[in-house]
Amino acid sequence: MINDLWYKNAIVYCLSVETFMDANGDGIGDFQGLQRRLDYLAGLGVNAIWLMPFQTSPGRDDGYDVSDYYNVDPRYGTLGDFVEFTHGAKQRGIRVLIDLVVNHTSNEHPWFQDARSDPNSRYRDWYVWSDKKPANADEGMVFPGVQKTTWTRDEKAKQYYFHRFYDFQPDLNTANPHVQAEILKIMGFWLQLGVSGFRMDAVPFVIAEKGPEVTKPKEQFDMLRTFREFLQWRLGDSIILAEANVVPKDNVKYFGADGDRMQMMFNFHVNQALFYALASSDARPLAKAVEETLEHPQTAQWGLFLRNHDELDLGRLSEKQRQKVFQEFGPDKSMQLYDRGIRRRLAPMLQGDRRRLELAYSLMFSLPGTPVLRYGDEIAMGDDLSLPERNCARTPMQWSTEPHGGFTKNDKPVLPVISGGAFGFQHTNVADQRRDPNSMLNWMERLIRMRKEAPEIGWGDCKILNPGNNGVLALRYDWRDNSVLVVHNLNATPVEFDLSVGLGDKGETLIDLADGGNSEADETGKHRLLFEAYAYRWYRVGGLDYLLKRKEV
Ligand code: BGC
Ligand code: CA
Repeated sequence: MINDLWYKNAIVYCLSVETFMDANGDGIGDFQGLQRRLDYLAGLGVNAIWLMPFQTSPGRDDGYDVSDYYNVDPRYGTLGDFVEFTHGAKQRGIRVLIDLVVNHTSNEHPWFQDARSDPNSRYRDWYVWSDKKPANADEGMVFPGVQKTTWTRDEKAKQYYFHRFYDFQPDLNTANPHVQAEILKIMGFWLQLGVSGFRMDAVPFVIAEKGPEVTKPKEQFDMLRTFREFLQWRLGDSIILAEANVVPKDNVKYFGADGDRMQMMFNFHVNQALFYALASSDARPLAKAVEETLEHPQTAQWGLFLRNHDELDLGRLSEKQRQKVFQEFGPDKSMQLYDRGIRRRLAPMLQGDRRRLELAYSLMFSLPGTPVLRYGDEIAMGDDLSLPERNCARTPMQWSTEPHGGFTKNDKPVLPVISGGAFGFQHTNVADQRRDPNSMLNWMERLIRMRKEAPEIGWGDCKILNPGNNGVLALRYDWRDNSVLVVHNLNATPVEFDLSVGLGDKGETLIDLADGGNSEADETGKHRLLFEAYAYRWYRVGGLDYLLKRKEV
């Protein structure tokens, strides 16, 4: 049954073990700490956790530089702790996805150490080498401004090695069948330990041709099918959520025309348009981006997000649009990164304005796809711009008003907990918000419940309506005789508009999913609605009792 595809309607929560909860008091988050917080996550209503890298690593890129794929970094615990965690998650109906970082290894990985030591090493060809510095070595850096080149000379190997990212992250030669076999082995290992799949890092680079002669790398899409088949043979309902910031015309190549490649991909296209829409109060480019990404195989799904652990990448907007987003959300140079993005968290970008925060999350939860929430978003956590690069948005979770926000009993947390001011742990923390029915946390819990009660969003056909105001985005989802309408006013002013465009000929009743109120068309057939500034509403179409109306199938 197609309904069995759990990822079509999940609520994903992304977190880093290192900064979530420290149980043993050494200042570093760990699996035992995370284990103790599982009931919190279950209470919030999330049903999948995406763990950022936790494998053994020198930690020079927050774990995205792995030196042992088959272990937990000892700072976070043991494999035993990991299995306790996946078991605990399973007991609560929560699935676990983990980061799979196989475009590159750490330069401290034994494979690279062996490869560089001896031209005849069996690992030499696991990496990408060149005798001379290739002509395009100063192109294609992922971290411009910080990273100077993509080819670096290794004195021991007496050759240059290729690294799409930092120089301590040598690229794996993914075209090598032995490397491909190893990638499958890594996936198989973690599947046995209880995960339901992987957030695959940097997919376009994983499958790109690599080598000194390559100027325009072609993608080897077959590789995606190999990964997919392996997963499904080993564990039928496991998935890959691909990190692939690609243009809409390439989407189908990643999903596979027959849905035989990646099950999920992050929707970077919609993400950027969404931030532009929030900055400009113009919903039209967002509507267009949604439209452009609607088409995909039925079994595929988008991952929708606002902010993640990286910078908000605005590289695909027009120059004018990008400047507008910078101006509204990151005007200071210290807030920007890599010439293309903003490194802040969402709450400070929106100046903690609750109306705009709710609008943004309501959008993320109701656009076509599966929402991916970042830890701390549920309490509107802030950032610390004094930390370098992307670390500003990776500070520890703020649990309470205890020292260091209750994250650790140690005086030296792995990253400083945000203290003082509106976003400091003294004001922004889980403990206080739990007790306050109007808090962001309790609002988020209600939003998650509402999203679960509207499976049409994950499954249904989405239609973009035009209620005649450029700042209003209205979407209708139809699925098996059930319909949901979601309407967002991006304007900073109240608006009145006619929604009869989204309704059937006879006019239908709209039931507000949040407060149960209903509205109908007037005698002339117009369905007038008045929305406050930044207001959002989710409606079920028809019947008096929406729960009764929702037919179970
Ligand atoms: C991750 C980054 C990481 C990079 C290198 C990405 O795309 O999201 O955080 O630095 O891959 O692994
Ligand atoms: Ca610890």
